[in-house]
Amino acid sequence: MGRHVIWLLVLLLSLSGCGPRARDFEQVSSQEKIVLKFSHVVSEASPKGRAARRWAELVARRSSGRVEIQVFPNSTLYKDGEELEALQKGYVQIIAPATSKLTKVAPAWQLLDLPFFFQDIEEVHRVVDGEVGQGLALSLLPRGMQVLAFWDNGFKLMTANRPLQSVRDFQGLRFRIMDSPVLVQQFRRLGAEPVVLAFSDVYSALERHKVDGSENTSSNLYSKKFYQLQKNLTVSNHGYLGYAVLVNSRQWQALPVEIRKLLTGTLAEVTAWERQEALKQNQEDLTRIRQEKETVVYDLSPEELEAWKAILHPLRQEMQAEIGKELLQEAEREKHKLPHR
Ligand code: LMR
Repeated sequence: MGRHVIWLLVLLLSLSGCGPRARDFEQVSSQEKIVLKFSHVVSEASPKGRAARRWAELVARRSSGRVEIQVFPNSTLYKDGEELEALQKGYVQIIAPATSKLTKVAPAWQLLDLPFFFQDIEEVHRVVDGEVGQGLALSLLPRGMQVLAFWDNGFKLMTANRPLQSVRDFQGLRFRIMDSPVLVQQFRRLGAEPVVLAFSDVYSALERHKVDGSENTSSNLYSKKFYQLQKNLTVSNHGYLGYAVLVNSRQWQALPVEIRKLLTGTLAEVTAWERQEALKQNQEDLTRIRQEKETVVYDLSPEELEAWKAILHPLRQEMQAEIGKELLQEAEREKHKLPHR
């Protein structure tokens, strides 16, 4: 297929010409210790937090302590809006932002935010692990960032201090969103007002009623206790939330090849584990939220779900020019592809 070849060529070209190497990593001698800082914004108990720790532990063990991944959770080093720049400048070597947060530097990533685009997590995996994932990864290379893996969180739910059943229930409410144009349009279509906030500011914004509601996965709602500030939660599963594990490409290329192999080999294992754990943890955390009974959990009826879909589906067409028609078509094809046996 023509597109195959083009993407591969672009990838190879970008990899071979990665510009000047970082002095600090270039001069690593064969025995010197290598320290890689990994900054993220969520709890250590979240799927991303647990996977970051697991990767660090495995790499430390397998390198006999030579490679240390220092993990900084909970926005302790950098918060949203800061961590991308910190990676580009080489202040940290690894981040794993929600893909929605990459849409400002590369609009094609909005594809993954489209509401009701994916029916299940297998469809997501077929897309991010296929040609489309490669294309998205390529779009970050000119910005000095390289994708090493795609990690899941899961599908988002809606929360507010009012029941959200009919699409009319959103009218006039303010919802915290991640910084992505598709998410802006999603809430506008529902008659609500989107408010972009860093993850680290969500709890206080909910507490002080700066926003009325939020969308997130049950693992984020549970680990950050957002649900305790919201009377109602709707199990809408309306959009995907996942992560790109990113490195500063200049610093990455400057690492000794055997170290990169160790890191990527271990990461492949951790990614398989993370995806299973994320699925399990989101189910368990939703059960915990239901059991605590602080929040009324509502499951949409098939008719209500259809009404939500009908309002949000046109976004695909509306955002096509920004995302790229070809990419969108390829994603449509890939998500329905049967796995190779
Ligand atoms: C959010 O900002 O709501 C999430 O992306 C946080 C995360 O990294 O899961």
